[in-house]
This record gives sequence, C-alpha cells and structure tokens, in this order.
Amino acid sequence: MSRAEARAQSLREQIEEANYRYYVLDQPEITDAEFDALLRELTELENKHPQLRSADSPTQRVGAAASERFGAYEHARPMLSLANATTLEELRAFDERARKVAGAAVEYVCELKIDGLAVALDYRDGSLLRGGTRGDGRVGEDVTSNLRTVKTIPLRLREGPPSFLEARGEVYLRKSDFERLNRAREREGLAVFANPRNAASGGVRQLDPALTAARRLSFFAYQLALPEAPTQWDSLQRLRDLGFPVNPNVERAPELDDVLGYCARWEAQRDELDYEIDGVVIKVDDMALAQRLGVASRDPRWAIAFKFKPREARTKLVDIVVSVGRTGTLNPNAVLQPVQIGGVTVKSATLHNQDYIANNDIRIGDTVVVTRAGDVIPRVVGPLPGERTGKERRFRMPARCPVCGSDVDHPPGEAMSRCTNAACPAQVYERVRHFSSRGAMDIEGLGDVMAQQLTERGLVRDIADVYCLDEESLAGVPRTGKKSIESLLRNVAASKQRGLARLLYGLGIRFVGAQTAQILAGDFGTIDAIAEADADLLQRSEGIGPEVAGSVELFFKQPANRVVIARLKQAGVQTSAPKRARATGALAGTTFVLTGTLPQLTRDEATELIVAAGGKVTGSVSKNTDYVVAGDEPGSKLAKAEALGIEILDEAGLRRLLR
Ligand code: IVH
Repeated sequence: MSRAEARAQSLREQIEEANYRYYVLDQPEITDAEFDALLRELTELENKHPQLRSADSPTQRVGAAASERFGAYEHARPMLSLANATTLEELRAFDERARKVAGAAVEYVCELKIDGLAVALDYRDGSLLRGGTRGDGRVGEDVTSNLRTVKTIPLRLREGPPSFLEARGEVYLRKSDFERLNRAREREGLAVFANPRNAASGGVRQLDPALTAARRLSFFAYQLALPEAPTQWDSLQRLRDLGFPVNPNVERAPELDDVLGYCARWEAQRDELDYEIDGVVIKVDDMALAQRLGVASRDPRWAIAFKFKPREARTKLVDIVVSVGRTGTLNPNAVLQPVQIGGVTVKSATLHNQDYIANNDIRIGDTVVVTRAGDVIPRVVGPLPGERTGKERRFRMPARCPVCGSDVDHPPGEAMSRCTNAACPAQVYERVRHFSSRGAMDIEGLGDVMAQQLTERGLVRDIADVYCLDEESLAGVPRTGKKSIESLLRNVAASKQRGLARLLYGLGIRFVGAQTAQILAGDFGTIDAIAEADADLLQRSEGIGPEVAGSVELFFKQPANRVVIARLKQAGVQTSAPKRARATGALAGTTFVLTGTLPQLTRDEATELIVAAGGKVTGSVSKNTDYVVAGDEPGSKLAKAEALGIEILDEAGLRRLLR
C-alpha cells in the first residue's frame, strides 16, 4: 500500500467515525473545523490520485454526477406495505390471528411509523452498492446517487458486515428542516411543500444529487431484510451496531396491552418529536413465527400499522385577509369556520401567497381541506370543488398595502407581494435592525432588544426617527441607564458619517446588497442622483440588471421613502459618496462566492470586507471563482467548488486573506 493510499484510508476512517458520532450518536468528538480539515485533506488527496477515490468515500456524498433518469431497482424480495388498523378492535383482531397461528401468546416490537419514503439499501462487503425506492414492491427506482447524499445513511458499514446485506428504512425530513426549506422556497418564489413527506419524497427523486443534498434529508432504518436475525428486536440492534440510525423510541411489547399503551402514548406525544409520525408499526418479534404467518393477499400478517386519527378536516373558507410581515411581505391568511383538528380548534390557516391560492384554485366561500401538523401553522391544502354553489369568489391580492396604503410590488416570477413603503409600521422593526447592523450604519447599542423597545413604544416609526432620539425620549425605555443612553446617542451621531454606500445598503432596498450599494454610490455620487435615475440609467452600472434597477426606481418613487431621505439629510446624515475605492486592495482581481452561515460575519458584512479590499463577490461558482467561503449549512455551491478544485475558506481563512 502506498503512503497516499494509507493516508486516504486513515482519513476515511476518521471521517466515518466523526460522521457516525455526529449524525447517529449525536455525540461529536471533534470540532467542525477539524472535520472540515480532514475532509479537505482527503478531497485533495483524491484529486491528486484519482485512483484512490472510491464510490463509498465520504467525499462522494455530494457532487456526484447527475443521474440521467432513474434506472430500475429490482427488489430481491418484495417490498411490502402494511395493512392499517384505525381502531383498537382491529389491533385485537390482528393479535388474535397471530396467537392462533402461534398457539401461544405473541410478543411484539412497537415502532413509530415515520412519515417519509421507504427505501431499500443494498450493501456488498460493507459498502453501499445501490439504493432504491419501493415502487410497486417488485421494481422501484434506482436512486443510489441521491441516497448517498443523505448523511445518516452509512456509505460503509461498521463492525464485521456480512458480504450481502439489505436494510430498509424511511427517508424523512425533520420538521425544523422542512420549515427552513419552505421559508427558503417562499423567498425564492418556488412552490412550498404541503408536508415533510412530500418534500422528502421529492428530494429523493431529484435528478441532481446536489439538490437532494441541499434538502438535508434524514433516515431511520427499521428492517434488516438480509441476513435475517432471529427476532425483530435483534435486527434493530444489529442495524445499530452496523452504524445505521435506528429510532430510539422502539419498544418491546410482551403483551397486547403494552401495544395499546404505546399507541395511545405516542398519539398524545407526537408533537414532541422533530419529525412527523402518522402512526405506530407493530411487528411480531419472533422471525420464525413471522415467516409462518406469511402474507395475506398483499399485506404481511406479521405486522400492522396503527394509524393515528387524521389531522385533516374540512371546513368553510369564510374569507382571506392579508397581513404584512416584518419584511413587508403580504401574507394571505384563511379565515375559517372554526373546526376541530386533532383536539385543537382551528380558526385560521396560512395560504402562503397568491400563487399558492391560484395554483390550487382556492376561492373564498369554498369548502376546503385544512391540515394541522403538530406545532406547525395549519395550512389550507385545497378546495373541494364538488361542494361549490357558484357563489364562491376568486381572491385578488390588494394593490395597496392593507396597513399603510402604499403601492404593493409583485415582481413577475416572484411568489411574494411586498409593501414598498419604508415607513410601513409592520416593517419598521426589521428595517431599523438592518439599518443599524454592522454592514450598514453600524450603530452599537441599537440591537434586537433596543430596536424592539423603540419601535413598540412608537419612539422610532421609520429609520429617520433614529436621529430624533434624545435623552428625554430614551429615559422612559426600561433597563437603560444614563450611561447606555449617552453611548447610544454617541453611536447614533457617529453613524451619520458612514457614507452613501452604507446608507444606501442600510435603506434595505430589495436586491440592493452591500456590493450593489457600493457600485451605485461610486457611479452616482449622491443619493439625489440615484433617486432621479430611471431604470435604464441605473442599468448602465456594472452588474445592475433590470430586476435591481426596477426595485431601486420603485423605492425612490414612493413619497414616503422620499420623506425619510429628506429627514435623514436634515439630520446631517452624509448622503454623498466618498471617492470610490479603486480595486487596488489586497484582493484586487479576486472573485469570491459565499455559501452557508459564517460564525461571525453576515453575508453582507463579508461582501463588504471583500469588496473594500478590491475583490468581487458573485452568486455562483464557476471556473472563474478563486475562493469559496463556506460557513455552516453550505449549499450545493460547496460541492461544486470541490468538484472544480476551487480553494475553500472558512471565515478565519477569509480574515487571514484580508489581513
Ligand atoms: S415496516 C412489511 N416500520 O410505513 C413491512 N414501515 O405502510 C414494511 N414506515 O412502506 C414496513 N415507519 O414507508 C415499517 N418503523 C416502520 C415504519 C414503516 C414508517 C412506512 C414505510 C412503509 C409504510 C407501511
């Protein structure tokens, strides 16, 4: 074995161990940075010696080549689904049948029924060879490259794996990851998913594995199809030993009463979990007995799914009202005829945005289906068109903000409509926070809590009000002493000198990030020149497209925004540009891409630092990219950078370059 080969093997082992501790045991033993260093070293080593790269290397989790449509995955044994029981009587009948065949009492294993997508995983000599969906039970889709990106699916098994092994389990999406995914999709104007199961199942079927990776799917193993263990309980233990994540809430149930207790307990406790369950799966523990029980028509007689009461109900959609979010988004909400769903009275539900309403043809007056998934906000799934009387009305998003009456902007291709008024009370808090943030006017002491205090008390109704604060008005704010008031006022005064670029960025104009603000400030020189420019003129600046230009034009057209600008000027805020920094800094001519969340810097702050040093920040990775700065939860950009062999930095690395 060559030295490189030995090193690669050792790195792989360390990375696998770290992954297992992190994702499966939830007990990491090395820091993220140490992990990154190992992975980077291995990537480099494999780039240098491609013959060392194997399909089961941890570097192959993301960035695998896009699959052409999916091939067929033939199951060695049929992949069955389960009969459902919805009442305790049905469970008793199931137990009775099993006892009859056994001629004795039967012991069970109770498992949570994870609401995701069933997959089969085929390992040869401990290495993941293929993975497939259930399909019709005989042939499914070969989604191997996608399953490789699921971090809790081991690529290599631990502890003396057999030469052939088939495990089955559920790919699912955590509720927290689901919420994050939907929020991001909403921002990007994409359709939102109705539930984590749809998102998981769509994720497994992506044509580009990098997109699967970005969805952050999870996995629980629940069946060891081959080689068989004497009991289901042993199978679960064996799966655990091999490195699979097994749901920790599995229980042995020596008697039917234990089964019934487990079902009742988890139906009541389901909201405490960070993943959706839709029932309990009850399995005969003794595999020999299971074999004897066999399969009746399509369903096994050795297992049954107890399905919880549905958390869906139909009710009347009385009206659609629009509220304004803190970032100015107009959010349509359903006013419902109150209805009981899973023990909770539901009177309102989210409708996301006008596209969601239009695409699902939801009309005011419709009878609709509403779901409530645990602690998640109830949502309207869709109408029941058969129930229509002809009196239903289509919804139209108002053209003016329901809170302040300003124009509403709905850029083509975007999901959300927005209020364009900077002084809209619903947006003030968020805008003040952005205005005072480090990349903008950098007002120390005007953080989350203070911004909230000031906006709630009406002391700050728009960003210009920040410069009207004085000792007297601040005296009434709780938990602020003379000293902190003095220091806040000093910082507010100092912020007047930040210059046009940071002011422009601080205004929070849609699509105007730190870099765009610098370009506009450098080209136009004064805020008035920018305010007077039309979209055509704005687009003559480097990198300013129609989207940005349109947004800037619209912003300065609003009378309310013009008033704010006039007041800022009056307060002595600098609204002209210091001479544009020429690209002569330490990073002149260098192109960066940012991905993920950095520990200290926001994306805008990092951009500003890079641009100030003469560098450029672009949105996508290409062969022209010099560095990718990756933080927590990096997206597919990281994978692409790795594939192209581009140097990857963390925040510390970026700071070193800046020095
Ligand atoms: S066992 C033949 N165990 O529920 C038995 N299934 O309707 C195969 N599921 O297709 C399934 N959690 O997608 C089993 N702990 C669990 C499960 C589980 C979720 C899903 C699976 C299956 C469906 C059965």
